[in-house]
Amino acid sequence: MKRRSPAPGLASLSPAAREAVARARRALGDRRATPNVAWIAALTGANRRKISEALEELEDLLPMEEEIRHRHVAAGRPSYAQIRAPFELYALVRLLGPEHLVETGVSSGVSSAHLLAALKRNRHGRLHSIDLPTRQKGPALGPGESIVALPPGRDTGWAVPDTLRPRWDLRIGPAQELLPRLVGELPRVGLFLHDDLHTPEHLAFELRTVRPRLAPRAVVLADNTQWTGEAFPRFCEELGVRLLRRGRGDLVGLSVPNGPTEL
Ligand SMILES: C[S@@+](CC[C@H](N)C(=O)[O-])C[C@H]1O[C@@H](n2cnc3c(N)ncnc32)[C@H](O)[C@@H]1O
Repeated sequence: MKRRSPAPGLASLSPAAREAVARARRALGDRRATPNVAWIAALTGANRRKISEALEELEDLLPMEEEIRHRHVAAGRPSYAQIRAPFELYALVRLLGPEHLVETGVSSGVSSAHLLAALKRNRHGRLHSIDLPTRQKGPALGPGESIVALPPGRDTGWAVPDTLRPRWDLRIGPAQELLPRLVGELPRVGLFLHDDLHTPEHLAFELRTVRPRLAPRAVVLADNTQWTGEAFPRFCEELGVRLLRRGRGDLVGLSVPNGPTEL
């Protein structure tokens, strides 16, 4: 029986890509942000040379990563519940070149910034984000308040550098209302990221809503699936595709088949 070669890991990348990853992680100040190369390969079908090339570009993102970290520190959020895979988001958009990206759940905007940075480099495409923010009540985060609440004087996406905003369509309100309207306006969705309300019902609703518009080879991602039960695995079953887990965590994805699909 023919054995499949193992998916490439970080060690299989070019030295330049490994160096860029290490520097970008330090600049962003998030030790968890080491990219899972095997996950990128599974979601895109790209080989390690292409993935290395995409991750080498993180070198050019260092000023952006530093700006994001400074904005977080200045707002009293040296760390918060941001996506653990910002560099994978960047690489996915560089490797797949999607036209319309949709994300639910923005908060400070770590995920948004990395998606937007890749769109800027692609020189095409648009990110459509939906966020229903909560606001921190006093000068400091009180007990029982969510770490994703907006710090005083900040609005949704407060860590996203201004230079990245031209390709951003940011909509404020509940995804329950805004997502169906948004999806109805788009010809196709090339990447969907769920990172807002983590309940089984809500994730199932979002997946059901984007499904008819998913483009061939679109990537669908959902974070914090430890709280969303069977919603994502069931969606994979319905589409007849593999659930692609990032390592042993609860950030998961799938890749829509290339070619005519019955979505
Ligand atoms: C975990 S944070 C998003 C983190 C972000 N993806 C990042 O990487 O920085 C979740 C965000 O979703 C928002 N949210 C919660 N319920 C929502 C809903 N029903 N519709 C839209 N946004 C919602 C929260 O207020 C919060 O801003």
